[in-house]
Amino acid sequence: MAPSSCAMKAEGRVLALDWGGGEAVRIPYLWLRDNCDCPACRVTQTSEKRFHVGTVPVRLRPHEVTLEERGDGDAALSIVWPDGHRTCYLAQDLWRLTQTPPPALHHWDGRFRPHAFDYAEFLSQDATAASFIEEFLTAGAAVLVNAPTTPGSLETLAPRLGPLREVVFERIHNVAVNPHGYNIAHTAEDIPPHNDMVSYTWPPSVQALHMLVNECAGGESIIVDGFRVLEGLRRASPALFDVLCEVAVPFRLFSTDDETYAVNPIVQLDRAGQVRMLRYSNQTMQPIPLSEPKLYAFYRAYRELSRRLRARTAQARLRLSAGHILIVAGHRVLHGRAPLTGSGARHLQDGYFEHDNVRNHLAVLKRQGRV
Ligand SMILES: [Fe+2]
Ligand SMILES: [Zn+2]
Repeated sequence: MAPSSCAMKAEGRVLALDWGGGEAVRIPYLWLRDNCDCPACRVTQTSEKRFHVGTVPVRLRPHEVTLEERGDGDAALSIVWPDGHRTCYLAQDLWRLTQTPPPALHHWDGRFRPHAFDYAEFLSQDATAASFIEEFLTAGAAVLVNAPTTPGSLETLAPRLGPLREVVFERIHNVAVNPHGYNIAHTAEDIPPHNDMVSYTWPPSVQALHMLVNECAGGESIIVDGFRVLEGLRRASPALFDVLCEVAVPFRLFSTDDETYAVNPIVQLDRAGQVRMLRYSNQTMQPIPLSEPKLYAFYRAYRELSRRLRARTAQARLRLSAGHILIVAGHRVLHGRAPLTGSGARHLQDGYFEHDNVRNHLAVLKRQGRV
């Protein structure tokens, strides 16, 4: 809730604002100057910033600060800088600018079943598209049903999720048993939960798995909420979790035509200490050099992570039928497959998108008042 009033006090390098109800912030003067919204400080046509903070002294202090209550219940903060420039903020606007919305993730275990949405409705109805994207952003997984079973249909999702993220292999990957295939997915073996393309420094952050034909016994799909497993590991063994954030691990995915290789820690955190990315692909992991000083600790941590990811209680299982498209958050949710036990036909196609672009589509639907 935005505050209805506030009080302020100019201090050494910050302006202290008390929003009432125990909520207070200390805003550096350079921040207040840098975010000035006046026509001189912005490119009017685009609202982008024109002002450069390097043009004012590092110890910038306001010449004068006033806070005036307005008739509409809001308050206006006015700052005059030593060069005479004036910056004005409405208190409600300033409050909004200083808020950090918490990430709203819904973590899940093996009992989870992804929500199903109708493919045609997802494409034609903005409200369904928005519900799908919101569910996907929260749970990290959702399914489209009643999709076409023609190869290449993942291209049709681009207006809602896209553009497609390409990698050097196929634009849309074909997954079927193939004695010449370059990847474990081309065999009938079980595929342990993993995320794709961790041999890229920025692996695709959204993956769509589209079942075209599934007449084969076995081959249940498996998904794991990697963030939930990591939080469990972090609570139980913080030292092991830390090692996974520190030791760089090489991954390689290659075919006769292509060669991808990247070296990064298995867990990447954001500045708030929350997990941003999990890279886990046992089948494409390469030997870590013996010069790594934390090698022994790493193996203890990696073993524990593997054990937790392989636990049945962490693995949600579902059978994808022809016309199902499972969409997962590539940096969070691992996918795998039980072994194929029959000889029936099975053909799956994989395509990739990017999380930022998916969020873009939702933001635009909201901004345009379409949902
Ligand atoms: Fe995969
Ligand atoms: Zn300005």
